[in-house]
Amino acid sequence: MALNLSKLPRTITVEKRGGVPVVRMIDQRLLPYDEAYIETSDWRSVVDAIKTLALRGAPAIGVAGAAAVMLRAWEPFSSDSQESLDEAADQIAAARPTAVNLAWGVDRAMRIVADLQVAGEGPVAVAEALFSLCQGMIAEDEAVNRAIGRNGAALLPPGCTVLTHCNAGSLATAFYGTALGVVYAAAEEGKLRRVYADETRPVGQGARLTVWELSHAGVPVTLICDNMAASVMGAGKVDAVVVGADRIAANGDVANKIGTLGVAVLARHFGIPFYIAAPRSTIDTGTATGSDIVIEQRDSAEVLPRPIEGVEVENPAFDVTPAELVSAIITETGVFRPAQLQDALS
Ligand code: MRU
Repeated sequence: MALNLSKLPRTITVEKRGGVPVVRMIDQRLLPYDEAYIETSDWRSVVDAIKTLALRGAPAIGVAGAAAVMLRAWEPFSSDSQESLDEAADQIAAARPTAVNLAWGVDRAMRIVADLQVAGEGPVAVAEALFSLCQGMIAEDEAVNRAIGRNGAALLPPGCTVLTHCNAGSLATAFYGTALGVVYAAAEEGKLRRVYADETRPVGQGARLTVWELSHAGVPVTLICDNMAASVMGAGKVDAVVVGADRIAANGDVANKIGTLGVAVLARHFGIPFYIAAPRSTIDTGTATGSDIVIEQRDSAEVLPRPIEGVEVENPAFDVTPAELVSAIITETGVFRPAQLQDALS
């Protein structure tokens, strides 16, 4: 297998053009057919990209949250109707509720604002510091993902076939990915045979994004419908399941893309290890258990594009896998059993 990560795009970057910051994001709504980018200096466009899933994936929206605060800080504050930085930060953090990384990214930016204001710095210094923060977060995210990848690859047997759900890949992060970071590291070590990608109804992050990303990177990938996972596992074709996370509660319960719970139940039934790969920033010690996690409910049109009279549609974007079904949580600082999480974090 010839792994070629240089064929993968940078999911989100920040740069200055003519002294003005520009946030550049690959528009994931158009993949796998068109590779196009959103370029903006307007924080509201970043919020819109997060809400519409143009940019998605927990670590990526964490960076985008900080980048949106940064763009707001660069805008001159000229009218009463314009949101203050605090109001904008609240709106940015509320763009999606489940992935804790979004609020974490916004908080990180707003802590810098508060520290610099206490130190008596003016708006220009604050805006410059936030620009540096965003560049730093992008580099940090890739480094964190590469460490997750190394830690996770060590758990996989030689000649391993991995099943994954949703897209916890490079596209869901600044670069490299969490669950797919484990895949890439295993491929770099010559341990990986193949990836099975669940298509991931209703939005198709597996069918549209994971298979595009893996095939670009040179990783052998087989796309399956979500309802094929049981038979593929039952046929003995899967050695490990590796998925990402949007929020990990203090007790080790994990919120991730809808359908993850079903995959975890199947993995337990067939005796296949079920791994979560996520940065420490996805662990939310302020949330005690999975039942405390707010699950985003999305538009019914994602499930049923043309309504049918008399038919109700439910569309929760995430579900919660109980800690007891999780074999281990792979982070940048080590691999933890869910029950060890509290001790590991203290
Ligand atoms: O709705 P999405 O596409 O943002 O959901 C993404 C997921 O559920 C991912 O698995 C999770 O964010 C981990 S990404 C490294």
